[in-house]
Amino acid sequence: MKTIVITGSGSGIGAATAQHFRDAGERVIGIDLKDADIAADLSSAAGRDKAISEVLQRSNGCVDSLICCAGLGGNHPGELVASVNYFGVTALLDGLFEALRASGGNAVVVASVAATQGNWEDHPLRDAFLDGDEAKVRAMASDAGHGVIAYAASKHAIVCHVRRKAKEWGEAGVRLNAVAPGAVETPLLQQSMDDPLIGKATRDFLPPMGRRAQSVEIAGVIAFLASDAASYVHGSLLVADGGIDAMSRPTRF
Ligand SMILES: NC(=O)c1ccc[n+]([C@@H]2O[C@H](COP(=O)([O-])OP(=O)(O)OC[C@H]3O[C@@H](n4cnc5c(N)ncnc54)[C@H](O)[C@@H]3O)[C@@H](O)[C@H]2O)c1
Repeated sequence: MKTIVITGSGSGIGAATAQHFRDAGERVIGIDLKDADIAADLSSAAGRDKAISEVLQRSNGCVDSLICCAGLGGNHPGELVASVNYFGVTALLDGLFEALRASGGNAVVVASVAATQGNWEDHPLRDAFLDGDEAKVRAMASDAGHGVIAYAASKHAIVCHVRRKAKEWGEAGVRLNAVAPGAVETPLLQQSMDDPLIGKATRDFLPPMGRRAQSVEIAGVIAFLASDAASYVHGSLLVADGGIDAMSRPTRF
């Protein structure tokens, strides 16, 4: 039986992924704000430390897969989005790296197709994320006003982080990949669709396939990346967006 740690296990993609692994007979350790094996707030350093130490305790320092699903949409304040979507992920990757190495395991980070849109090359907010300066990022994200900018920047930066870790993690025998969903029918998407500022754009954001994804369809992609079927997939971004990325920039990839 494998030990699978899933953040954001209480809802949406994280809940569907937890169900997938439980159905497969694996042991799931869920982390979320509430109603989870470990209740922890990943927006704060104290919450991240609590999550990491409780996982290490429950798993005896040996984790097969870490799946980072916890996240906030662009309708939340930018500084909170930045802390959860980027620093809440990098802290868990760092804190559980040795436990993943102990099992020759892997990690999957849920990013977003938003990571591939826009021009983030040399963008000061992207660079502040990659410098790991949470206080600076929070100040910049707060100045930017609406969290939609912090959302896209956090998702772009977390994919860069995954790619930048590929050498170190690969050499340690731990695979690390990211998934970029498009629009997935979850409470997060519903909140964005209901938001007065970004609601219309979110509702209009429809892929060529003509429908939004169900959480279980993204859980299947995550489960593939965490499985032995993906044993040579490392440092990659798997786009599962119904064709949005291909439609919006067909000659760039
Ligand atoms: N739904 C979409 O359309 C979509 C598209 C692209 C990417 N994503 C990404 O997928 C991931 C999962 O999103 P979802 O759509 O399933 O959303 P969701 O709101 O259904 O689930 C997110 C979970 O994260 C948890 N969470 C939020 N803040 C937290 C914190 N501070 N500490 C601990 N847990 C916290 C929530 O409690 C919730 O259970 C997110 O990273 C999101 O950015 C979603």
